[in-house]
Amino acid sequence: MSLLTILRYPDPRLHTVARPVAAVDERIRQLVDDMCQTMYEADGVGLAATQVDVHECVIVMDTSDSRDQLQVLINPEIIAASAEMHVAEEGCLSVPLVYDKVERHARVTVRALGRDGQPHEFEAEGLAAICVQHEMDHLLGKVFVEYLSALKRDRIRTKMLKKARDDLRGD
Ligand code: NI
Repeated sequence: MSLLTILRYPDPRLHTVARPVAAVDERIRQLVDDMCQTMYEADGVGLAATQVDVHECVIVMDTSDSRDQLQVLINPEIIAASAEMHVAEEGCLSVPLVYDKVERHARVTVRALGRDGQPHEFEAEGLAAICVQHEMDHLLGKVFVEYLSALKRDRIRTKMLKKARDDLRGD
């Protein structure tokens, strides 16, 4: 396994729309394993392939406190969503140190392929529901800050660009 580089907002590659995985083969299983290692290393609850500059529909997530409930979603689809909405604070490994409130469906039913290529369905609520919707947005080229006001987004963009410059200088 190897650690992958996570793209940082406002990298334009984060706005690429992912294509469906044609076959869950050894290459995809390797990607899944590398994404898992990268997510756990970064202490994230979810990671979409888009964030590691691979534009195929693959998500890994683990919203458990114990960090041992890995979920692999390949070609995920939301097949049902609650009318009830829920607002919660979100963050993103591609937008470090930025947290803000986003409204999402409180519950979603998801169909996806697993690492074994087999289809499965599950209902998610709470953090898992937020995470699925957040990560599926990544596959559509959407970062959560795009739900915020233009003013907030501009401030975040400026802060991220400054951080990238500081990181380059090694500050
Ligand atoms: Ni994210």
